Amino acid sequence: MCGIVAALAKRNVVPVLLEGLNKLEYRGYDSAGLAYLTEDNSLARLRSVGRVAELAAQAAGKGAAQGIAHTRWATHGVPSERNAHPHISAGLAVVHNGIIENYAEIKQELTGLGYVFTSDTDTEVIAHLVHHLLQSTPDLFEAVRKATARFIGAYAIAVIHEGEQRIVVARHGAPLLLGIGTDGNYAASDASALLQVTRKMVYLEDGDIAEIRQDQVRIVRPDGSAVTRPVHESSLSADAVELGNFRHYMQKEIFEQPQALANTLEMVGGSQTIQPQIFGADASALFARAKSVLILACGTSFHSGLVARYWIEQLVGIPCSVEVASEYRYRMSVHDPEQLVVAISQSGETADTLAAVRYAKERGQHMTLAICNVAESAIVRECALRFLTRAGPEIGVASTKAFTTQLAGLALLTLALAKQQGKLSVQDEQNHLNALRHLPVAVQKVLALEPEIEAWAQHFANKHHALFLGRGHHYPIAMEGALKLKEISYIHAEAYAAGELKHGPLALVDRDMPVISVAPNDMLLEKLKSNLQEVKARGGQLYVFADGDSEVPESEGVHIIRLPEHYGLLSPVLHVVPLQLLSYHVALVKGTDVDKPRNLAKSVTVE
Ligand code: G6P
Repeated sequence: MCGIVAALAKRNVVPVLLEGLNKLEYRGYDSAGLAYLTEDNSLARLRSVGRVAELAAQAAGKGAAQGIAHTRWATHGVPSERNAHPHISAGLAVVHNGIIENYAEIKQELTGLGYVFTSDTDTEVIAHLVHHLLQSTPDLFEAVRKATARFIGAYAIAVIHEGEQRIVVARHGAPLLLGIGTDGNYAASDASALLQVTRKMVYLEDGDIAEIRQDQVRIVRPDGSAVTRPVHESSLSADAVELGNFRHYMQKEIFEQPQALANTLEMVGGSQTIQPQIFGADASALFARAKSVLILACGTSFHSGLVARYWIEQLVGIPCSVEVASEYRYRMSVHDPEQLVVAISQSGETADTLAAVRYAKERGQHMTLAICNVAESAIVRECALRFLTRAGPEIGVASTKAFTTQLAGLALLTLALAKQQGKLSVQDEQNHLNALRHLPVAVQKVLALEPEIEAWAQHFANKHHALFLGRGHHYPIAMEGALKLKEISYIHAEAYAAGELKHGPLALVDRDMPVISVAPNDMLLEKLKSNLQEVKARGGQLYVFADGDSEVPESEGVHIIRLPEHYGLLSPVLHVVPLQLLSYHVALVKGTDVDKPRNLAKSVTVE
């Protein structure tokens, strides 16, 4: 997703802008650009497809006191120099992160007024609209304020204008903050881009419009009323992977999930509709064409794919299969060029997943999408479309925040596919987007259950085996829970679809075999309760994660932890969290090497 840096200072800001873009590289991008005012106050622009380093080469020797810069992740229009930001209208330049959903209507209007568009982006309407408004409102700040009133969608923008010693920025939905420096003032998508010049940050709120001058900043609300926002001293270290107060990276990463989800869902934060372009410029066309979906992945990523199968078949109504990449790559499966191939990978470098995507392409399947946590990874580069989960670096070998952010990405994919295939009503779209927006808060509430889960962990420490049960889209969550437990506590754990219990694993149940059940309050709850009775009747110890409204009673041998109320389609994202915490605490009790379990690697780049 695009990144923005803006600077106005008593120094040459070109190196600051470039260093800021380097720090935003993690967001993923395909082209970069910057605009600055030269000594005679005229506008200059540099753009390049590819790495920030190429832009830096072009910018060598350039100097300016004022400029805006951008890394672009193509949504409207392919990655190319003409589509790269900044976009210009006469002496005015704009960089933008997000999507202006009603750009087509504004573009038509501006074309009618004689504006000539030179790119395929939605962003260019911002430049021309502000320029147009400047004719009747000859004040850049006011013109930007009036322009933002026209935009529907999520955006963060920064604007400069020839002859003016100021930068105007605005945000709605996409992130943007101000950096208050000693020699000037700055703005960026993310604090990491500005730590090079200041630690004093002002986080803008949705609807804020700010004017940055060299010695001051001011902020107004959409109605023009002035507002002040607190200045925060950033405690971010340049190295975002320090442990801080946590004992292990895994624990830290479990607790980072609300923020990781919020970052991943950034593009729908202020948006009223789901835009397929968040998956890439060609996504609308490919999603409309897809007759089926094939998901390829390994390990934890495979489990997120299994959840998505339930979602896609239910909401989009097209077949979805999920296959372990190491199997698919050597199998003579039936290939289908109208199938959307989705590769899910935290690292983007897993050899089997990469080989599976290449194999699919060799067999004529070119509709490929990567859902990945690493922007410039091999799998992202291999695929036609991409969605970056924004989990941040994941260090613990047992994947946690990568998993839940993959689920968030897959939920967006499900909605985008459903929309492109005419299966999503406006009301359902709103409801699903609202649920997604509240997901970080809902996960935060589940994290508060840690003390109860920690108490359970003692019961598992001397066990050698455990069974995990789930049904429906929580069956893959049971699988993920079992994987977590075996990875870091070395307890043999297996997951079963609860309905399968009587076909074999019930024979194993006795007092020494704890049975962990994921019991959300959904249409399968009554059936699950019968399955649990089967365990209880054989003297098994049951550990049930129920929803607050599940009405699963506690009794002898039946231990219950209640999550908040049932969370519908997104419930798997909540239910995996206690299972992550359980395996973490069992591993603590057992004293294993939590972050580096024996025999396992974080990124498996060999077969
Ligand atoms: C390894 C890791 C797992 C991960 C799997 C797939 O086994 O230990 O945590 O789920 O690889 O990795 P990927 O990076 O492709 O998601």
